[in-house]
Amino acid sequence: MKATAKAPANIALIKYWGKQDEKQRLPLNSSISMNLSHCYTISTVEFSSLYKKDQFQILGEKASVKEKERVIKHLDRIRKKSGISLKARVVTKNSFPKSSGLASSASGFAALTLAATKAAGLDLKEKELSILARLGSGSASRSIPDGFVEWKKGKTSKQSYAYSLYPPDYWDLRDLVTVVIDSLKKVSSTEAQRLVHQSSYFSARLKELSKRIQKIKQAFRTKDFPLLGKLIEEEAVSLHVVAMTSKPAIFYWNETTMRIIKAVQKWREQGLMVYFTIDAGPNVHLFCQAKDEREVLKKVKEISGVLDVITNKPARGGRLVSNHLF
Ligand code: DP6
Repeated sequence: MKATAKAPANIALIKYWGKQDEKQRLPLNSSISMNLSHCYTISTVEFSSLYKKDQFQILGEKASVKEKERVIKHLDRIRKKSGISLKARVVTKNSFPKSSGLASSASGFAALTLAATKAAGLDLKEKELSILARLGSGSASRSIPDGFVEWKKGKTSKQSYAYSLYPPDYWDLRDLVTVVIDSLKKVSSTEAQRLVHQSSYFSARLKELSKRIQKIKQAFRTKDFPLLGKLIEEEAVSLHVVAMTSKPAIFYWNETTMRIIKAVQKWREQGLMVYFTIDAGPNVHLFCQAKDEREVLKKVKEISGVLDVITNKPARGGRLVSNHLF
């Protein structure tokens, strides 16, 4: 009753921001993402009568009480589904440190779902795994399928799951994640999403989205990189306008974020095809084609306030692996 899984983080090109139903984590809009090759979580889960209570450990980091509660809640869902009542030990490892400010909930809940269902003796299909991962963290639903992924919002839990649009080798893109200096306490994406309706720009964002989703799918079909880039920038700005006009206002960007955005615009004027997207934090994701990776990397490292850069290729989704963490 022990299993280990590895799952990638993903970067949303069309973002999930706002829920129809908070308990079921049903989103207000469909979203599209790319799995990241170098940002991932490995998780080992064992159910055993030897454990008197659930244990959760993140190697090299201290798990918060909130994180532990969220993991235990997820184990309860899996216990209910499989009909077991045994307690579990969960050990996880992130390829990127928490201090980097990168969210690990997508890779974390995808890896936990895969490992815990297997350890509990369940044999679930990709769709069921994506639904279950979604209940842990919405964006985790997209870390189950391969490559470039769409999460259909759906009207019910059964309809709200992610599937692969294209395999990882479909398009040789790069996501360079810049880890920037950040001293502010972060508002979690779960908390921030509760405030979306307070922004008068949120309804405008939802109206724009179906068109933007159609266009981004067209950019993928035709591999039109400038079109893809333009759309992901518009989309990122739209999310942050909503955050900045929520009440209370949430500003995820800081001066380094802004410096990178300005630099990206300048580099494009000089002919370098690179675009940005930003999640619920100050780190900027730089999107480029494989041929431009070196040049973008060299340039971004020179920007003051950039602590680290993690280069990602499109990756497969979560899967079981044989090396246990304990
Ligand atoms: C900005 O998946 O972290 O990264 O379902 O409440 O856990 P919960 O939210 P979460 O939200 C992700 C927000 C985002 C955009 C995205 O990944 O789509």
